[in-house]
Parts: sequence; structure tokens; C-alpha cells
Amino acid sequence: MEFFEVVKKRRSIRRFQDRKVPEEYVKKILEAAFYSPSSMNRRPWHFVVVEDEELIAKLSKTRGALRFLETAPLAIAVCGDESISRAWIFDASIAAEHIQLAATALGLGACWGHVLEREHGEGKSAEDYVRELLGIPEHIRVLCVIGIGYPAEKKPEHGREEIMEDRIHRNRFGVR
Ligand SMILES: Cc1cc2nc3c(=O)[nH]c(=O)nc-3n(C[C@H](O)[C@H](O)[C@H](O)COP(=O)(O)O)c2cc1C
Repeated sequence: MEFFEVVKKRRSIRRFQDRKVPEEYVKKILEAAFYSPSSMNRRPWHFVVVEDEELIAKLSKTRGALRFLETAPLAIAVCGDESISRAWIFDASIAAEHIQLAATALGLGACWGHVLEREHGEGKSAEDYVRELLGIPEHIRVLCVIGIGYPAEKKPEHGREEIMEDRIHRNRFGVR
């Protein structure tokens, strides 16, 4: 798929068909993640690939905004090693977007489920909940969990009406 087609087609897909993502596609998605740029090329990423149904069901209970993971056959926890880079959040965010674009290019749907600085409930952070569930060590921080699968919902692609002309400034802020 051509680049501009991919960015237009990428939508947050939260309902998935009961169909496994082929391993070959999982590898392609991870490959795209590792091609991301990173601050000072420190490459602090870790990706926890989850296909175990029980674990995905538990991940969907991280917080209300991750409930959509319920039908996802694949979830990838996007993490960063803060002992490697203070810029891990930026680096992990870019990798998360590469993952979503790669999924779209492969005909899959994906959605970012946010974890960092959110609450699970009962005094526990969403990050600690995911960390305990997936056995992630303390120095590895969890940004988000991306649900991926064959879409069971259709959404219109992005279009020119979304371009916010008043947010574009030429040479000086406010000048168009
Ligand atoms: C930083 C970030 C956090 C997000 N967190 C969630 C989330 O926790 N749950 C969710 O369902 N969608 C989440 N989303 C998806 C947004 O809701 C979605 O990108 C936005 O509504 C635009 O829709 P689109 O992705 O279809 O273009 C998140 C997106 C970003 C970039």
C-alpha cells in the first residue's frame, strides 16, 4: 500500500474478527517498529507480544479505555527502558505509530490503549497492573498496549476536511 493511502486508511479499530494474525504479519509489524527513529539512536524499546487469550482478557481490564482489547487476537505492549534513555516516551510513541501504520498496510486494524500515567483502580496504576501481568521489570516503562487484528468494524478513511488550516503557520506564528 502506498504511504499516503496507509496514513489515510489508518483508523482506531476497536472490534476484531475471531481470526489469528499470521506470524509472518507479527514479524513485519515488529520489523516496522524497529525501523523507528529514536533520540540519540539509543533504541530503548521493548515490545511484549501477547497472543494468549487469558492474558489479553486480563489486559482488557487494565482500565475502561482498554476494554476494546477483549476481541483482539493480538496485543503488543509498547515499552521503553528508562535506564537507556530519558526520551523513552517519545521513542516508544513513534514505535507505537509505526506499529499501527504497519498493521494498516497489512490490512489489519489497530488501536492504542493508553497505560502510562493512568489508573487501574484501587490505588494501583495501570502501568503496575500491566507490569505485574506480563512480568515486566521495574526499569522497563509501559507506554501503551496496542490491540491488533482483522477489523470487525468499518470506518471512513481520513480526508482533507480534517486539515486545520488555522493551525498552519508560515515563517511566523499566525502568518498564513
Ligand atoms: C496518545 C494516545 C492515547 C490513546 N489512548 C486510547 C485509549 O486508551 N483507548 C482507546 O480506545 N483509544 C485511544 N487512542 C486512540 C484515539 O482515541 C484515536 O486515535 C482518536 O480518537 C482519533 O481516531 P483515529 O485513530 O481513528 O484517527 C489513543 C490515541 C493516542 C495517540
